[in-house]
Amino acid sequence: MSTRAKITGTGMYLPDRVVTNKDLEELMDTTDEWIRQRSGIVERRYIEEGQLPADLAEAAARRALEAAGLEADQLDCIILATLSAQAEFPGTSFFLQEKLGGTVPCFDLRAQCSGFLFSLNVARSFVVSGQYQRVLVVGCEVHSTGLDHSTEGRDVAVLFGDGAGAVIVEANTDETDRSDILEVRMHADGKYATKLWVESPGSGTFPKRWTQEIFDSRGHYPKMEGKFVFKHAVTRMPQVLRQTLDAASVKIDDVSLFLFHQANLRINEYVANQLEIPPEKIRNNIQTYGNCSAASIPILLSEAERDGALNRGDLVSLTGFGSGFSWASAVIRW
Ligand code: UT7
Repeated sequence: MSTRAKITGTGMYLPDRVVTNKDLEELMDTTDEWIRQRSGIVERRYIEEGQLPADLAEAAARRALEAAGLEADQLDCIILATLSAQAEFPGTSFFLQEKLGGTVPCFDLRAQCSGFLFSLNVARSFVVSGQYQRVLVVGCEVHSTGLDHSTEGRDVAVLFGDGAGAVIVEANTDETDRSDILEVRMHADGKYATKLWVESPGSGTFPKRWTQEIFDSRGHYPKMEGKFVFKHAVTRMPQVLRQTLDAASVKIDDVSLFLFHQANLRINEYVANQLEIPPEKIRNNIQTYGNCSAASIPILLSEAERDGALNRGDLVSLTGFGSGFSWASAVIRW
């Protein structure tokens, strides 16, 4: 019998510090009303001084390990998806590995808001091919230290928050257990790379990655053409979701739970309407956590499991879109 890839545990961690829309009104020319209406966000979490990305990742990973009944030394590999790495290099995964102990192979995967789904696909391939038995997949972001909290950066700064989510993907060879990551489909279109990006520090900036001019032109802050990104998100997400379900011969009606990336509540409502998905089959948490990029989907998944919204045997659909552009969907038999 072929090996299946089973998610055996989930975990999440959000920093304690709550930053409300009202708090942001103190920093820039924005309003609680604008942020709620345009994005659905009410508040988000930011780290405290001294908290590191690897601390968030560790807390989420330890919860996932506990849920799976595993110790860290039983892992075969760690994949960490992030766009807000702890250092230029090495990847955040190395700092996480040091915290978990041992010398298991680890690497970061950079596919922005689709990073968790891309990583899940890599983990699935490792497990199904027989190379590894147990892979930890983490989505971890600390956006707060990289945002432009002036009025100039308000279109992006109000949207993002910090957090981490994790899953354990294990080889499943039990013939009576149908739990599996059934299909994942990934897409990318680099011609839109600069529609949502941070230019610097990057080795394309000459003669040095850091210059006064870069600072002066705010090139170290994220820039986004919001409406352009929005239009692509609402087109690509339904496409890839359908493509993935079709590949698994699953109908929309058969899916118990749809979890979308948390970039904008309006994007998710639009996608749900297009696909005629009833609201009770959808969960969002952007209202309380904002957009946590690669961490949003694993946080949603972990919340769903914690709240009893996931039962073994259920079909779950995960879909994301983000910078790159990158987009992906997965369908899982829980
Ligand atoms: O996670 C990766 C994927 N990301 C996404 O999918 C995000 C996609 N884009 C969006 O979610 C939306 O485009 C935004 C929420 C970013 C913006 O919403 P919008 O309805 O597209 O607004 P807009 O950018 O067209 O801006 C409308 C107005 C502008 O003023 P004028 O030109 O009409 O006078 C902005 O300057 O709102 C202004 N504005 C703000 N006002 C108050 C922009 N940001 C703010 C703000 N507070 N924070």
